[in-house]
Amino acid sequence: MIRVEKVSKEFALEAGNFTALRETDVTIGKGEFIAVMGPSGSGKSTLLQILGGLDLPTSGSVEIDGVRLERLDEKGRTLFRRTKVGFVFQNYQLLPMMTVAENIALALAANRAPKAEIDRTVARLIREVNLEGKASSYPSQLSGGQQQRVAIARALAMKPALILADEPTGNLDRQNGEDILKLLSRLNKEEGITVVMVTHDRHAAETADRIITLRDGAVVEDAMEGAGRK
Ligand SMILES: Nc1ncnc2c1ncn2[C@@H]1O[C@H](COP(=O)(O)OP(=O)(O)OP(=O)(O)O)[C@@H](O)[C@H]1O
Ligand SMILES: [Mg+2]
Repeated sequence: MIRVEKVSKEFALEAGNFTALRETDVTIGKGEFIAVMGPSGSGKSTLLQILGGLDLPTSGSVEIDGVRLERLDEKGRTLFRRTKVGFVFQNYQLLPMMTVAENIALALAANRAPKAEIDRTVARLIREVNLEGKASSYPSQLSGGQQQRVAIARALAMKPALILADEPTGNLDRQNGEDILKLLSRLNKEEGITVVMVTHDRHAAETADRIITLRDGAVVEDAMEGAGRK
């Protein structure tokens, strides 16, 4: 599903180049639920951005679902992001002037799906993330956990093969965090969606099948979680 080979990422700074990832290798199978941990600044978000085609590595190769990302042009990467990847961020990134239904419908509308199909899909996704009755609400009228569920529904709209979540429980209290983890876990187990989730929270990471730990831009640990935990 995901093959990252010798991926390095350097940022040009006034003080010189800064290396955020150094020749990182990671292989992730289809249907795995991966947690990425590591100290602040270790390269977790950088790796996620590269996996999602939001950013290109300085060197190395990233293959996702048979597609070599570095071989795509800008347009190809946009199409890849829209159709294969669902992004979920810590700060939700919902559009404040749009309702829940409109936020979820965005990607579908961008892909010119017919209106009836959009309505059907949005209604299904709202049920799936347990937000019945909130379709016409605005993000500011929702709790943090509810906003994060809208963000997940939006990520699911295009039936992505892969969900990339950057600290999806970071802004939530324990109960809301648990609900989000359960939702991601269910999508992974029941719908076979591969999930890569960055988290600082050991407990959240234990929801995953496998924990990859980064330090200074390199993988320093890659451990399977004990079977039968869940
Ligand atoms: N656009 C950029 N320009 C310059 N340096 C950057 C850029 N993006 C990230 N970095 C640097 O790369 C390193 C890794 O950043 P990254 O955001 O991947 O860390 P992280 O592991 O996600 O940390 P956190 O847990 O704090 O979110 C950091 O030292 C950061 O300052
Ligand atoms: Mg980060």
